[in-house]
Amino acid sequence: MKLLVTGGAGFIGSHLLAHLDAQKEHETVVLDNLSTGSAKHVPQGMKLCVGDICDLGTVDKLFAAEKFDAVIHFAAQTMVPYSLQHPQEDCNTNLIGLLNILESCRKYGVKTVVFSSSAAVYGDNPNIPLTEDLPLVPTSCYGITKMTSEHYLRMYHDLYGINSIVLRFANVYGERQGEGGEGGVISIFCKLLVQDKPLTVFGNGEQTRDFVYAGDIAQAAAKALNLQGFNVINISTSRETSLNELLGAFKSACGHDLTVNYAPAREGDIFRSVLSNDKLKSLLGFVPQMDIEHGIPKTYNDYLTRRKEGN
Ligand SMILES: NC(=O)c1ccc[n+]([C@@H]2O[C@H](COP(=O)([O-])OP(=O)(O)OC[C@H]3O[C@@H](n4cnc5c(N)ncnc54)[C@H](O)[C@@H]3O)[C@@H](O)[C@H]2O)c1
Repeated sequence: MKLLVTGGAGFIGSHLLAHLDAQKEHETVVLDNLSTGSAKHVPQGMKLCVGDICDLGTVDKLFAAEKFDAVIHFAAQTMVPYSLQHPQEDCNTNLIGLLNILESCRKYGVKTVVFSSSAAVYGDNPNIPLTEDLPLVPTSCYGITKMTSEHYLRMYHDLYGINSIVLRFANVYGERQGEGGEGGVISIFCKLLVQDKPLTVFGNGEQTRDFVYAGDIAQAAAKALNLQGFNVINISTSRETSLNELLGAFKSACGHDLTVNYAPAREGDIFRSVLSNDKLKSLLGFVPQMDIEHGIPKTYNDYLTRRKEGN
């Protein structure tokens, strides 16, 4: 299959490219403007087109030249707080950028689009585990652009027959994770630990999140290329991990006790968050394999190495 991966030079994209490179099933082209990604994440022999998804001319030219069978669309403005400060920019990258990709898919006969959505579409819904059929009430501009993207994908399926696969990622972590994206607490802890600074936990540390390893996301996204129709699927572990458990995994990764300050809980913070992965199991026959006991040391050691190398 001839495959386009947008945003492939980014954090999750780098795991996907490594997986595709090892699989050797598809010929892959990467489109990325390198705003947060790095050309180093693109394996040797894989074609990188440095360009912006918001530039229709660039996108159209690429689609005309390459004749893709499928697209995995990861390129996005990914920062929730930034989306609130810069709603127009978030809207431009996440919606105009998406429409440039979808229109090119329609024009050049691309059969399948796999899209990286987010748990942010659910907002603060207390009905956990979150299932794909729940009403969506996003609480950020980022959540709104992801939710709207899902509607565009459904419509492009209904009107033009494009297989449209929406993957809603839980809290993603792993090697090469940036500091600004959705992953939040894990990259903050890595940064503070390598600087020998104390960690701050807001609340009693019993608040939970669903931490899913980026390598597992990569496998799910590659499998999703085989699906037909319009599908919305959570990509999650279905397991609640408390911040105190996470601290335990960091303690093992560092090999020493951590200095942790417990501060009052922040207003508006969600206390429990977990996404059901029943649909992931039934549609893709897959469950994330990595647990935090193994995933956090990988992530921490990678962060440490990158710091030493100045990356
Ligand atoms: N990290 C998470 O926890 C998480 C959770 C849910 C969903 N997601 C989604 O997964 C996808 C990948 O996120 P990530 O965490 O790897 O972020 P990232 O910032 O590391 O990767 C995004 C990539 O897109 C590229 N990009 C950004 N704007 C572009 C543009 N206009 N044109 C071309 N390329 C552009 C960047 O250079 C980068 O390589 C995003 O769609 C994000 O919204 C991430």
